[in-house]
Amino acid sequence: MTGCREQASPREETLLTEWEFSRDSVTWENVTVPHDWAIYGPFDRANDLQEVQVTQNFEASVTAHTGRTGGLPYMGKGWYQTTFDVLNFDPAAQAVTLLFDGAMSNARVRVNGNFVMEWPYGYNAFFADITEYLHPDGKDNLLEVSLENLPNSSRWYPGAGLYRNVHLIRTDKTHVPVWGTCVTTPEVSAEEALVEFGIRAEGVSEGMRLRASILGPDGRECAVLDTVADTEQLLRLRLARPALWSPETPALYTAVAQIYDGQRLCDCYETRFGIRHFELIPDKGFYLNGEHRKFQGVCNHHDLGPLGAAVNKAALRHQLALLKEMGCDAIRTSHNMPAPELVELCDEMGFMMMVEAFDEWDIAKCENGYHLYFDEWAEMDMVNMIRHFRNNPSVVMWGIGNEVPTQCADEGFKVAAFLQDICHREDPTRLVTAGMDRADCVVRNGFAQLLDIVGFNYRTYRYTEAYDLLPQKLLLGSETASTVSSRGVYKLPAVPRSGAKYPDNQSSAYDNEFCWWSNVPDIDFAMMDDYPWTIGQFVWTGFDYLGEPTPYDVDAWPSHSSYFGIFDLASLPKDRYWLYRSQWRKDVPTLHLLPHWTWPGLEGEVVPVYCYTSYPMAELFVNGISQGVKRFETGKTANSGINDVENSIGTMPRYRLMWDDVVYEPGVIEVVAYDAAGREMQREAIHTAGEPAAIELSADRDILDADGLDLAYVTVRIVDKDGHLCPVAAHDVTFDVSGAGTFRAAANGDATCLVPFQSPTMPAFSGQLTAIVQSSHNKGTVTLTASSEGLKSSTITLITK
Ligand code: GAL
Repeated sequence: MTGCREQASPREETLLTEWEFSRDSVTWENVTVPHDWAIYGPFDRANDLQEVQVTQNFEASVTAHTGRTGGLPYMGKGWYQTTFDVLNFDPAAQAVTLLFDGAMSNARVRVNGNFVMEWPYGYNAFFADITEYLHPDGKDNLLEVSLENLPNSSRWYPGAGLYRNVHLIRTDKTHVPVWGTCVTTPEVSAEEALVEFGIRAEGVSEGMRLRASILGPDGRECAVLDTVADTEQLLRLRLARPALWSPETPALYTAVAQIYDGQRLCDCYETRFGIRHFELIPDKGFYLNGEHRKFQGVCNHHDLGPLGAAVNKAALRHQLALLKEMGCDAIRTSHNMPAPELVELCDEMGFMMMVEAFDEWDIAKCENGYHLYFDEWAEMDMVNMIRHFRNNPSVVMWGIGNEVPTQCADEGFKVAAFLQDICHREDPTRLVTAGMDRADCVVRNGFAQLLDIVGFNYRTYRYTEAYDLLPQKLLLGSETASTVSSRGVYKLPAVPRSGAKYPDNQSSAYDNEFCWWSNVPDIDFAMMDDYPWTIGQFVWTGFDYLGEPTPYDVDAWPSHSSYFGIFDLASLPKDRYWLYRSQWRKDVPTLHLLPHWTWPGLEGEVVPVYCYTSYPMAELFVNGISQGVKRFETGKTANSGINDVENSIGTMPRYRLMWDDVVYEPGVIEVVAYDAAGREMQREAIHTAGEPAAIELSADRDILDADGLDLAYVTVRIVDKDGHLCPVAAHDVTFDVSGAGTFRAAANGDATCLVPFQSPTMPAFSGQLTAIVQSSHNKGTVTLTASSEGLKSSTITLITK
């Protein structure tokens, strides 16, 4: 006996993907859902110009914020409609449910002309039983969804439309409703785990039976229980020698509930879960399965760069694979509920999650933000979020809010208590945190004291004070760094700077620039290394995102995407990737050199060279001449004062090898890494590039699923005749895709680039860009050709199967 796929249960779930879409309810076009109506642009300063005073950033007056939400046309109304059949429909014996994974925003749903439900918050999932609204013959049912995004409602690009999946679920009248199970593992040891399997069922009548079973990671049944079915029951099953879930060993089990009426199987419902236990010990930290660890996390917004907000599992998998390679083990879904696909992938690939609910409670950040709905909807939004994700082992904590202004309100702690209590009521197994940025208020007004986990956004210089004052005796860097950089753009002189701006609207890739509230990564590393009571961090951000182009956010068009990412919008790593990798990956060495070495006109001038490495020391050579051996300096703690420039200067030598006085001459720089005994371990060189000569392509994968959704990310590099990257090349590159796939989008990571992502011609930025190829339903090969005037073109062929 195995899972539901092998059982003939009446449960059927389909995705509604083919829709008609309109922006005026008059002219309609065919679209495929998930769909983001705004990502096609065009980018325009007028699309999202916000005359606001951002009080969160202590702005003194109203200014023109440009590109704040991506410069894309997401505001206003949108309509979707589709028809569907329910074959052999029998309203007396069956139930039909619609489940939306999220709809942006203010969704109103109608079936066959009847109003079914509304859901204002665009990030949450919601569902409704629509059995009573269907045509008696089950055919040609009309489903209509209207949406509206209000102006001044977001601090980043929210996306627009049915950007997540819509499920049509048909079951027997007797069935487990949406999110109707709750699986916990209250006792876990190496020898045994106790699984508590809570099941709700509708339409249960006397004499029905329930068969509950557990399938192990290998798919085999490892526990089973046969009992009388009820509308609400809690079953206890014991498993021997459980495989524990962790980021390194993401073992997954499946709980199966089968409800029988005599011999007839009324429903079969699967719930995937994991077995792990964690605890927080004051002063000592966070323990997963008994092992101490600190969160090596990143915050991410939900958009997928050039794909916009339309969810795509292959794109999410691509992001997570890159983060895993860096040593990241945790994701914060800033500042809203994630797509279920992301949570499933975190379960499977091994990431711990902080699932966060809100950026705003009852007090506004944005004129038309969530505060408009808070009083009426907050509890329903919390309940849906928790029931949706409470069985996912990746989720280890709930975030109830990010930098909410309510944190400084006299009775703000009451609102926090209200939300935290909902978490504890709906899910007693997880702890609750909030990202607080107002250390001054929260340590005095009771807000920080009541949270399970104290989460501080930035303000590392207030960590020790908070630790001293607060009873939890632990502190999470719920949001850290906000270092800004543009991939491949190095600003000289290389000195740490807060709020630096340049005429080209770029930030320095020396990873030494930040905002007045933020800092270089080195300070966070020091806080984690020096204080046992810190439990880790979530870096702002893993990936660049659409909107919030700080420091170019006030009248600084055309900047319209962020500079905070470790990866840029094209998902290409900035240098900072290797800095985190050098600290976070313990199992493989890291050796990375920066900047590029092509500086015509700067001969004889100082161009500092940095090395991010896990080796204890290294020697730099310029054209074969040693510039000296550098070792990491130890002992500089970060908590010396509020001046982040000074803290940066103090801590950077702990985590980077820096040769500050290197004089530029064309040729080659090479770093030689040594182990502690002085033995040579690895070398890395960068050459001065000659004239751009050719395009080089490399794909993240060779084989795609022929499912019409799978993606390959192809990195495009402009190189000289010897294959060296031309680090300032900005050639227009044209893509042509043929065979069993299509050109989906391109991106170059330049926050000022206004070329639409769907354009088959896109300029390179710092010599590189990314093209995204999507599979079709055909098996075979798909070929991408990239060409540019004056360069040797290049072709890559992928297999679809
Ligand atoms: C934080 C905020 C994030 C983002 C970030 C930029 O204060 O929580 O959403 O705005 O700053 O540094």
